[in-house]
Amino acid sequence: MIEHDVVIVGGGLAGSRAAVEIARTDPRLSVAVIAKTHPIRSHSVAAQGGMAATLKNVDDQDTWEAHAFDTVKGSDYLADQDAVEILTREAPDVVIDLEHMGVLFSRLSDGRIAQRAFGGHSHKRTCYAADKTGHAILHELVNNLRRYGVHIYDEWYVMRLILEEGQAKGLVMFRIRDGKLAVVRAKAVMFATGGYGRVYNTTSNDYASTGDGLAMTAVAGLPLEDMEFVQFHPTGLYPVGVLISEAVRGEGAYLVNSEGKRFMEDYAPSRMELAPRDITSRAIAREIRAGRGIHTDGSAGGPLVHLDVRHLGKEKIMSRIPFCWEEAHRLVGVDAVNQPIPVRPTVHYSMGGIPTNTEGQVRSSAEGLVEAFFAAGETACVSVHGANRLGSNSLLECVVYGRRTGATIARYVQNRKLPEVDEKKYITQAEQQIQALIAQPGEYRIDQIRQRFQDCMTEYCGVFRTDALMREGLSQLQTIRQQAQRVYLDDKGKLWNTELIEALELQSLLIVGEMILTSALNRQESRGAHSREDFVDRNDTDFLKHTQAYFSSAGIDIRYRPVTITMFQPQERKY
Ligand code: FUM
Repeated sequence: MIEHDVVIVGGGLAGSRAAVEIARTDPRLSVAVIAKTHPIRSHSVAAQGGMAATLKNVDDQDTWEAHAFDTVKGSDYLADQDAVEILTREAPDVVIDLEHMGVLFSRLSDGRIAQRAFGGHSHKRTCYAADKTGHAILHELVNNLRRYGVHIYDEWYVMRLILEEGQAKGLVMFRIRDGKLAVVRAKAVMFATGGYGRVYNTTSNDYASTGDGLAMTAVAGLPLEDMEFVQFHPTGLYPVGVLISEAVRGEGAYLVNSEGKRFMEDYAPSRMELAPRDITSRAIAREIRAGRGIHTDGSAGGPLVHLDVRHLGKEKIMSRIPFCWEEAHRLVGVDAVNQPIPVRPTVHYSMGGIPTNTEGQVRSSAEGLVEAFFAAGETACVSVHGANRLGSNSLLECVVYGRRTGATIARYVQNRKLPEVDEKKYITQAEQQIQALIAQPGEYRIDQIRQRFQDCMTEYCGVFRTDALMREGLSQLQTIRQQAQRVYLDDKGKLWNTELIEALELQSLLIVGEMILTSALNRQESRGAHSREDFVDRNDTDFLKHTQAYFSSAGIDIRYRPVTITMFQPQERKY
């Protein structure tokens, strides 16, 4: 059996930052990062626009309190304000720490870190590395993993969280290269497994974002929190859905409809294109619904709107947002220096996730905690984003709460023994699970079922929702679940059996999808990214609370947890 003091699943920003913190705090600890891709290919690498922090390099009037207020207002008052205070107070320090690790942020002419405007932020506070910020940060963190002697298990797929008697004890994992199964036991387990964008048919997320960590946690009997809050990023490149960064609007781009109008003046006149994402995505969806969208040939009535950067000029485009220019050029043949970019909302981020306290320890209920189990980053719900995340607060969350959770774990494992784990039992169960998938007779291919599932989630739990729509979605999901049990695999082998991995991922996606739909159906109000056409107003009397959804094969049980309000009382949210 493999043994480490700490195992971290996920090699992106939160997981890598936590690992570095543990290794820095106590170099005697054996720390492992396990990832289904190489850490450097984690989805964090695709983050573009930046990371918010009140460094005050561009705006000396900025304060952490202003950052906290913007974040809470952006969250539609669902964020836990103690967690937001930590996020915003610690932000400048974690940026400087990254800089000391070697991260190459973009600079002002006097050499200080540059900062730009971002949606929902009242000051220019987003630090960036052109429009490749995740790339710049993750490369340095992964270099630091090596420097501090962290063990890296790359291209291992984690199949199961071992949770017994309220305590996380380890993992069961599968080496993609040759199908080898292994049990790993540890004094502490941390999940930093990212999001679930692949639940939907159009997403900015990479192919690996299938919500495996969320599904494993749910199957282990633990709650998932606020899963109904799915972030649609306003500017996915049409039709592929990849991200055209909010930094493009931060640098001054316009959103324009078929009438040539900057339509955000009708939805958020004080913020225009830099309104928060929920408001901007709904505005684009409404323009398209009203027939003021645009077709790819430029005619009216189509499925997209235009993001226009032409007035910025070639030099600014190529120095501040070169990657977005390149994406539009490479993927849809648009030269943004001379042509508008076709965009529409794309699924981008999960506000909900595995509930944790502000030390990163996973909650078992509204009051209880799980021993030896921690989570941070997009997969966790601490909750700093509530019902809607502000752009550039996600990299920040990964680094603040990655560091914080790492520090907690380094203390937690002192004087703890490795747990007893029945290796043989878990290996046998994993072998049976794999064998059942490989031997399964059936008439469906994985991609057929995955496509049906993604179309179902997109149609029945998208930007706008109603009771009838979501009930239909849940009913179709039951059919798709049954069909998924009649999927056959061509590849029966052990070497690089990516079909088998996709079959395992499909199981994760189905669980996560059902959690999203059921949580959304039960929240009878509109708040942040959860917009119900049958309950159009926010309802603080009945729903100023976090959803906690428990999965079981018999169905999903919904409970609630109170919101922590320390600084800002809920108000009407207007921009
Ligand atoms: O638009 C962006 O660059 C995305 C940033 C974020 O999600 O924080």
